[in-house]
Amino acid sequence: MSIEIRKYIAHKIQERKDADAFRQFRINEGAIDFCSNDYLGFARSEELFQEVEKEAKMLEQRLNGSTGARTITGSSALLEEVEQKIAAFHLSEAALFYNSGYTANLGLFSALPYRGDTILYDALIHASIRDGIRLSKANSFSFEHNNLESLEKRLAKANGNVFVAVESIYSMDGDAAPLKDLAALCNKYQAALIVDEAHSNGIYGKEGEGMVVELGLESDVFARVVTFGKALGCHGAAVLGSKDLKNFLINYSRPFIYTTAPAPHQVLGVKIAYDNLSKVSDKRLYLSKLIDLFNAKLDSLLRENLIGSSSPIQCIIVPGNAQVKRLCAMVLEDGIDLRPIVAPTVPLGKERIRICLHAFNTEEDLERLTTSLNRNYKKLLEGKL
Ligand SMILES: Cc1ncc(COP(=O)(O)O)c(C=O)c1O
Repeated sequence: MSIEIRKYIAHKIQERKDADAFRQFRINEGAIDFCSNDYLGFARSEELFQEVEKEAKMLEQRLNGSTGARTITGSSALLEEVEQKIAAFHLSEAALFYNSGYTANLGLFSALPYRGDTILYDALIHASIRDGIRLSKANSFSFEHNNLESLEKRLAKANGNVFVAVESIYSMDGDAAPLKDLAALCNKYQAALIVDEAHSNGIYGKEGEGMVVELGLESDVFARVVTFGKALGCHGAAVLGSKDLKNFLINYSRPFIYTTAPAPHQVLGVKIAYDNLSKVSDKRLYLSKLIDLFNAKLDSLLRENLIGSSSPIQCIIVPGNAQVKRLCAMVLEDGIDLRPIVAPTVPLGKERIRICLHAFNTEEDLERLTTSLNRNYKKLLEGKL
């Protein structure tokens, strides 16, 4: 390899280290999980693990892998059955299974909006949608986060087919999009509203159908992306929309076409997770109680820096990569696993602790979390950390 390339790599790594933003893996075994996206505890459920194992043994086709791209040899009766199940559950005409939420967004946004079209996206939209937009030939503009006026200004000037991209619950902030108002505005301008439901799938709606169904907006939303790696505790995603949209994506969405289809075990995991969603209303209820309790137990100092959210994602702004990392390290000493979200993942000065509450966190766990946060945050402000 050329010396110049080696130097470039070393330089870029050093840049991240200098900014206290060097990403690396960390396994905090034994610490209480207040940071994973396993909101309902499905990923760690022994019961689900056993169900998947049992059903895997009963599969007609005993395959370890899907053997090819979906349009060649990778499709299966199981995959088609699961897609139908997902579509019916979310009150959608059709669903198309993608290998991940990242590829679903990449596949949808890169394929559908075309040259001369316009994509308007919330300023805090997820990286996977940004990357999909980058691959698209359409024009794109951001609008201020959750700001309808800012969106309307953009809508009034937009050309071609117009797509509006939002998340129902924002991944790094935890706050909700004003979906009803957004849908009405998109209707007014004949724009296609696309909602990423990564963090609302499984949590909102009577049986966890997501926020679009909870609000009865299925027919006002052009497409939804639901992911399976968060509340469903497995892996993968689906684009929900019309049958025509599904056929369009099968034919034009490169991240769907040019990749090996998901393995049967992965698909089975998703099927069983969906089967179980309707059985866990008690967990959803408990989770919402825990969210209220969390807010009540935080000191006013911390509450002032909390991003308003009624979802399981609760974020506290702690400016500065080094500061937020230090605070997380101190809380870890109390046996609590919290992860800092640093720039450039979030804007400079908006670094934060992203706390995820789970149905498996006990009230005692929550007490430990808030006690540790309250104490250590005060110390941080006093310069004693
Ligand atoms: C809003 C949002 N969309 C999409 C994704 C990507 O989903 P996946 O992890 O399944 O690739 C994520 C998760 O990182 C997310 O938070």
